[in-house]
Amino acid sequence: MDKLLVKGGNHLTDTVKISGAKNACLPLIAATLLSGEASTITNVPELRDISTMLKIINSLGRKTEYSGNTIKVLEGEVTNLTASYELVSTMRASIVVLGPLVAKYGECKVSFPGGCVIGPRPIDLHMKGLRALGVDIKVEGGYLIAKARKLIGNKIYLGGHFGSSVLATVNTLMAATLAEGRTVIESAACEPEVVDVTNFLVKMGADIKGIGTPTLIVNGVEKLHGAKHDVIPDRIETGTYMIGAVITNGRLFLEGAKADHNLALIDILREAGAVIEEKPSGLDIYRRTEQVFAADITTHTYPGFPTDLQAQIMSLCCVSKGISCITEKIYPDRFIHISELNRMGADILLEGPTAIIKGKPTLSGAPVMASDLRASAALVLAGLVGDGETGDMNI
Ligand code: EPU
Repeated sequence: MDKLLVKGGNHLTDTVKISGAKNACLPLIAATLLSGEASTITNVPELRDISTMLKIINSLGRKTEYSGNTIKVLEGEVTNLTASYELVSTMRASIVVLGPLVAKYGECKVSFPGGCVIGPRPIDLHMKGLRALGVDIKVEGGYLIAKARKLIGNKIYLGGHFGSSVLATVNTLMAATLAEGRTVIESAACEPEVVDVTNFLVKMGADIKGIGTPTLIVNGVEKLHGAKHDVIPDRIETGTYMIGAVITNGRLFLEGAKADHNLALIDILREAGAVIEEKPSGLDIYRRTEQVFAADITTHTYPGFPTDLQAQIMSLCCVSKGISCITEKIYPDRFIHISELNRMGADILLEGPTAIIKGKPTLSGAPVMASDLRASAALVLAGLVGDGETGDMNI
């Protein structure tokens, strides 16, 4: 069992180089399957999810080299069209191999990804997008079985109950690059990770217009080729460090961080009492006021406040002056961290999708249990300002 032990009471003061974005890199690796030629991805973050995605690519028959922060997907064709339950069940993002495989090879079998600790995570939009392109998809024995004689471009509305979907947009977009004719994806997700994957597809020879907007227009091409790509900096890692600097009353310089990708968080932190200075090589962040003030936050799709920073900002609200309200609009059940923060002395009440947080001067270190990646980061942040030690976190 993995554990972290955090000693509270220190100020975070340093320069940190921001890693490449996990949620861009995972679909970028899947996108390499659209061509039999070699591709290279640089600025790859060192994470278990990346290794899992590589295992999936390898299990499909593509050879890869991974050293430093560079992944090379070597020239070759997929020889196995099944992405197994054993691999897919460990990481939901594996679903992004579905679009490239069925578009390039006309069929594939991908394990149905289950729910996860942040709540139910449906895949209806992925299926809607691919079906609109002419893919026949059925669920059998826990697998999605996809077949298509030929993909044909179409007009697709991809807005769901909770707005647009990052990976459903990317899955549909990747498939559309090899479809015959024109595809228009309406209500496409606009997250920087989607833009990054789109830019890579264009380097591979795809014809895509409307990049970064909710309307993506794809003119299908017959073939894509290999390409080289440098992954964008991780905006969630950036945001977590920004909150770290503010919560500990420290000062961090975040090398490579992009303000444009974190506008909603920057706005909230400035209101709360932080200074965030944009420099050519990154962001400098520290407190302007002795105390940090409460905030009202609602998570939204980009450029709104990201759900992946909801837990971390909640830790800050726990030690801010006043009452904060945080409403979760993307994953209504993503609140497992509340009971753990309350174990540390926080005062958080959950009313439907809204957490009401009464700020306190400090928290008290306690044994806590982490659930998902972002909740774990939130508990580390809380531990940094807790009296004593926070630990026993199963990560
Ligand atoms: N949704 C549907 N139907 C679908 C797909 C999604 O209803 O077919 C709903 C989801 O349940 C959710 C909303 O749409 O309410 C948005 O989900 P989205 O599809 O955008 O999530 P995702 O693409 O599966 C990515 C990130 C998540 C991040 C979300 C939202 C990756 C690998 N994952 O997931 O990241 O929370 O976008 O920005 O890109 C994380 O990194 O910790 C993480 C969970």
